[in-house]
Amino acid sequence: MGVYNDRVLPRILNDAGGSKRLEPLRRRVCAGLAGDVVEIGFGSGRNVPFYPAAVASVAAVEPSDVSWKLADVRLRGTDVVVERSGLDGQSLPFADHRFDAALSTWTLCTIPDPAAALHELRRVLKSGGTLYFLEHGLAPDERVRRWQRRLDPVQRRIAGGCHLTRSVADLLRTAGFEITELDVFYEQGTPKVAGADSLGSALSP
Ligand SMILES: C[S@@+](CC[C@H](N)C(=O)[O-])C[C@H]1O[C@@H](n2cnc3c(N)ncnc32)[C@H](O)[C@@H]1O
Repeated sequence: MGVYNDRVLPRILNDAGGSKRLEPLRRRVCAGLAGDVVEIGFGSGRNVPFYPAAVASVAAVEPSDVSWKLADVRLRGTDVVVERSGLDGQSLPFADHRFDAALSTWTLCTIPDPAAALHELRRVLKSGGTLYFLEHGLAPDERVRRWQRRLDPVQRRIAGGCHLTRSVADLLRTAGFEITELDVFYEQGTPKVAGADSLGSALSP
């Protein structure tokens, strides 16, 4: 993958993901988590401080060794049992119907085949389990979408395969999730092309 993607980008993402202005969003998306949770694209554990007390354990799925090391400081500061349990959201090493809830923040943009990852989440979630998501993607406005389509190839190169043009709601519905809550908004302090966020929850029937 190269030095940039393997060693530099995880540090950039760790710094960007630690921004104070993202904390209210992380708090919101994590608020409903409970029981045994799988988090895909765990990154450097920026959601860890926001896991509610109702969380019993977290299976972290993250390919980057550097990101996992950077998570150490947050893992030492929590009582929640977090284990790095997989490397690829597209192929989860878990039995069917094992988890009560799942979490994905700013990750479906980067996973090469997001449909495969959502299919896997449906498989490992219990019937009635909930996916909590906070993802950027296709903007609600056509003017912004035009720029997203223009900039997508550049974004993919500089941001580790991150796409600007994925429709989060469409991906969830196609995978068979029932969206129970959805808030679409532009993230403050981020250019609209990369800050069209979808925050909510989706039930696996
Ligand atoms: C933009 S970062 C978000 C990290 C973290 N979720 C956060 O909110 O700060 C995207 C993460 O997805 C991870 N990722 C990339 N490909 C993946 C895959 N196939 N399966 C799981 N995670 C993946 C990256 O290593 C990176 O940590």
